[in-house]
Amino acid sequence: MTRDRSEWEAEAPTWSTERAGRLSRTVDTVTPAFEPPDDDPAAAVHQWDTWQVRDRHGEVISIDGWQVLISLTASADLLPGKRHDVATLRYFYSRNGRDWELGGTVFDGAALGQRQWAGSAVYDDGELFVFYTAAGDEESEELDYSQRIAVGHGGSVSTSGESVEIGGPWTHEILLEPDGEYYETQAQSRGMIYTFRDPWPFQDPETGEQYLLFEANTPVPERSDRCDGDPQRQEFNGCIGIAHSPTGDLLEWEFEPPLFEAVCVNQELERPHVVYKDGQYYLFCSSHLHTFAPGVHGFDGLYGFVADSLHGDYSPLNDAGLVVANPANRPYQSYSWMAFGHGEELLVQSFLNYHDFGGHSLDDIGELPAEEQKRRFGGTLGPTLRLSYEGDKTRIRGVLDHWHLPGPDEELPELAADWPPDDLVLKTEDEPQSGDRSGQTEYYR
Ligand code: FRU
Repeated sequence: MTRDRSEWEAEAPTWSTERAGRLSRTVDTVTPAFEPPDDDPAAAVHQWDTWQVRDRHGEVISIDGWQVLISLTASADLLPGKRHDVATLRYFYSRNGRDWELGGTVFDGAALGQRQWAGSAVYDDGELFVFYTAAGDEESEELDYSQRIAVGHGGSVSTSGESVEIGGPWTHEILLEPDGEYYETQAQSRGMIYTFRDPWPFQDPETGEQYLLFEANTPVPERSDRCDGDPQRQEFNGCIGIAHSPTGDLLEWEFEPPLFEAVCVNQELERPHVVYKDGQYYLFCSSHLHTFAPGVHGFDGLYGFVADSLHGDYSPLNDAGLVVANPANRPYQSYSWMAFGHGEELLVQSFLNYHDFGGHSLDDIGELPAEEQKRRFGGTLGPTLRLSYEGDKTRIRGVLDHWHLPGPDEELPELAADWPPDDLVLKTEDEPQSGDRSGQTEYYR
């Protein structure tokens, strides 16, 4: 049962224009320059959004001593920009969290959607649940951008001394479709890139209640008074959605009002997830430089907010919300960051995106010759970042190798004493600043 709009709109924690307007890179949030790894375990595919198999509480697990990852992938023969249209889930496994083998595709071809987008996986009582975005209508001949939240369940994970095999038979179900009240439908959307995707389950450790987070948009009716009635800024209506499972069943979800909103600030709060530490809920999402509303200048980066309950009043980390940003001269270096707790530290994995490109708009990549586009795209996992986090502050304190995802019991090496490096690039001369609307208009439909 949905509530009256005025009630929940007033209550939803928001990323205010004022706070977001103070976004800037700092030595605590900017990463060094990264190159692709010497050894890519899956050079034949482009690889991007990646998630570790977890238990229903949200903890990263190992299965008979193996860690398992699932990634969006596409043939490396394709132009990187085309990968979203053919995304396929593939899995990787590792004994030591450093050396990974490509296992194969997760599903046997019968998954929902024209292709599958991100993405999370829960191993519960011997059954693998792979939550995904059914992107595009499988009944339609034409490529389309509809998005539904789906699951493949009934999957098995067989292990031997040498390898891991994920197998079916899978049962695929649509779990959630936007309702048009709390979550915008594609027909309602009138701005830029539409979103209803990236499911991520989380069990609240304080209440034991089971939730599913996802990326969505809040419906903002035309002529509403949001964003001081400015219709252009109203088109930026990203939110982090949440659904509840009253029985704990991973297949039964009921919408709740958005957990967090960025109306007037940003269009895409991607791959939302929570890390719980000492009574604090750290809510993270990735976002793009080009999805900030006119007048707010952000970065391709990981953003975060903290509250003292899951449904709490989230406050931006580090004042404005920036947790990890790419170097200013490599603004598209990495993307799709996923944080997980490890002892006292916060570890963050991501993929290498257009690591070798200094322009201010991704549109310019498409102008380059095909081989150049491929060369500049990483399409593999980048180094894992090590952060400290306490209260509403985070700080990058070091990096682990590419693809190094320590298991829960792995002891991390000492932090380097000479961090931060002195060549971090916080700013470029010609970078647009908050208040400057240039470089954003081309993303409108
Ligand atoms: C982030 C993302 C996800 C989506 C996927 C599609 O990199 O936009 O939100 O599921 O890429 O390829």
